[in-house]
Amino acid sequence: MTRILIVDDEETIRLALRKFLRSRGYEVEIAGSGDQALEILDSSSFSLMLCDVRMPGMTGVQVVPQARLRDQDLAIIMLTAVNDAATATEVLSAGASDYLMKPVELADLQQAVDRALQKRTALMEKRRLDELIREEVALRTAELEREKESLRLMSVSIAETLINAMEAKDLYLRGHSQRVAELAGQLAEELGLDESVCEDLRVAGRLHDVGKIGIREAILNKPGSLTAEEFQHVKQHVRIGLEILEPLFHIRQPLKYIEHHHEHWDGAGYPLGLAGEAIPLGARILCAADTFDALTSKRAYRDPLEPMAAIQHLKVDVGKQFDPCVYDALVRVITRRIAAKSATRDSR
Ligand SMILES: [Fe+2]
Ligand SMILES: [Fe+2]
Repeated sequence: MTRILIVDDEETIRLALRKFLRSRGYEVEIAGSGDQALEILDSSSFSLMLCDVRMPGMTGVQVVPQARLRDQDLAIIMLTAVNDAATATEVLSAGASDYLMKPVELADLQQAVDRALQKRTALMEKRRLDELIREEVALRTAELEREKESLRLMSVSIAETLINAMEAKDLYLRGHSQRVAELAGQLAEELGLDESVCEDLRVAGRLHDVGKIGIREAILNKPGSLTAEEFQHVKQHVRIGLEILEPLFHIRQPLKYIEHHHEHWDGAGYPLGLAGEAIPLGARILCAADTFDALTSKRAYRDPLEPMAAIQHLKVDVGKQFDPCVYDALVRVITRRIAAKSATRDSR
């Protein structure tokens, strides 16, 4: 049953309105003041409030926002004195949906009640729909995000299969990509980069040398230095890698890092000869991690360097091959690694 609350300081009006509305089938309660009305609203709910504007104590205009706070769906019709246009505007902007001039014509009252209740139903329905749409959109967005993430993971693991195939053939490359990925991720963390950038670097690390699949094995494992022609051939691993990975548009950023992982801080690298901060930071990090891991791994033609010796070895290339900030981060990360390692050794 539709419940209506009548608020008026004049008893005769309260009773007359209640009698009429009850005869029209509504359930009606009455309040003699704003305070009393709010008390009633606190303990039970109504579809509609009819509220006098001029009352001793709290005025009707003051009651409206308070009532709204308690029930945002409450329809409100104000009862105003004749010729009080200013008040009428005021109550409407305070949140009432309509007003009636006193003395109230009962036929007008019925119409106003019908209108207010219809408007209330429509508003509630609209809010419910908005809510539903919001929920649906949130749900679909989350679903899309999940799909995107699983596509990304799938892309990466397919590419990793290639890496594994390649590293399986080459004893000296084995584990290189995984170690570069870990170190590059740690360097990014050390430099305070966002977690998403760290993750992009871990992906880039795992995939950075996929292009070596297109390089002649004899050259990859050649002891000693390469001829100019051979070096030109090795350089192609960047281009070949990008061509292999090109369809993986879900990992755009890691691809950028891979593209530039052989650029040098002083501009002497490849493929574009970018210098300084024109090289994406992720690529500068990847370059340092890659070079460090190459030095500390065994090659066909030389033994691995100890980590600290590798750090010393790389020092001469700070400002040439390496971004000084990235090198400093590398020193900190490797020093910590060594300390952690000797701590576990000591505790054994
Ligand atoms: Fe490379
Ligand atoms: Fe590498």
